[in-house]
Amino acid sequence: MTEAPLGRRLCELTRNVESGGYRIFSVLDADGPEPAPGQFCMLATERGWGGEDGRPYLARAFSVAGAEGQGGGVRLDFLVHGVGPGTDRLASLEQGERLWVTGPLGIGFSGPRELAPDAAGAILVGGGIGVAPLAIWRRALLAAGTPTRVLLGYRDRERSGGLDLFDCSEIRLASEDGHAGHRGYVTDLLAVLLEGDDASSAAVYACGPPAMLEAVRALCLEREVACELAMEAPMGCGFGACFGCAVPLAAGGYMRLCVEGPVVRADRVETALVAGSGH
Ligand SMILES: Cc1cc2nc3c(=O)[nH]c(=O)nc-3n(C[C@H](O)[C@H](O)[C@H](O)COP(=O)(O)OP(=O)(O)OC[C@H]3O[C@@H](n4cnc5c(N)ncnc54)[C@H](O)[C@@H]3O)c2cc1C
Ligand code: FES
Repeated sequence: MTEAPLGRRLCELTRNVESGGYRIFSVLDADGPEPAPGQFCMLATERGWGGEDGRPYLARAFSVAGAEGQGGGVRLDFLVHGVGPGTDRLASLEQGERLWVTGPLGIGFSGPRELAPDAAGAILVGGGIGVAPLAIWRRALLAAGTPTRVLLGYRDRERSGGLDLFDCSEIRLASEDGHAGHRGYVTDLLAVLLEGDDASSAAVYACGPPAMLEAVRALCLEREVACELAMEAPMGCGFGACFGCAVPLAAGGYMRLCVEGPVVRADRVETALVAGSGH
């Protein structure tokens, strides 16, 4: 797992474009290492952060959606949904402005064979803004020659971004309003895929709103399919100091999602319905 260098780094925004109601933005990280798929960064803008009312004060967590070494450092891509003061401020950044980056943090995805010895391929299941970490994971799986199927679900047309990050046309879509693909939930598509042989030969990777993750968790546990979830919890620090991100474990006790996750095996957690997460 890639370890974050000490301290936060001031990085320049090199791109900020609209994508189906979300923003895709890229920063050039001159000094940081290349993140592993599933890791995240804590981001805060250089200006306009901690205004008169102190909001937003803490940096916010974002999954790395893409990363590529290039001249002058590593380009990091993020997918941002404006839901409050922190995400709105980040989404409104203009090219050339700077932001503070801490990371890469946390533990990312395991390979299919690490999850299940017989897994011949991967099924990626994304919901809403949760498609972000699956984009970088799909690229890594493709580079490793792992057969991968991608299922993405959106609530409605207004919140349906991030497809551009996948760079492939073989994506099965679901939407609750019926504007694209299957009308209904992305978990309907997963349930069909897990019928028959696919259940024993695949590893499932999911990221999305808590209710979707919980449905994926239940489907996979019921069918004994190996599964990892990229989860969210309210994160104050991102590196283990505040305990704001504690989630209950199936075996009892808690784990800090920022240091032992955010990617966790589905059978390790008691539930994916984490209070205060999802939007
Ligand atoms: C590991 C991780 C990866 C994430 N990756 C992304 C990403 O790639 N793109 C993205 O847009 N967002 C991502 N998030 C969520 C993002 O961090 C929150 O949306 C953000 O902290 C909200 O800050 P705010 O100031 O804009 O809104 P706030 O004023 O803090 O909250 C506004 C609304 O968002 C909800 N909210 C608050 N904190 C969170 C949270 N941590 N997760 C979900 N909802 C929250 C609140 O319930 C409220 O309804 C991620 C969160 C985590 C923990
Ligand atoms: S976010 Fe502070 S301990 Fe996890």
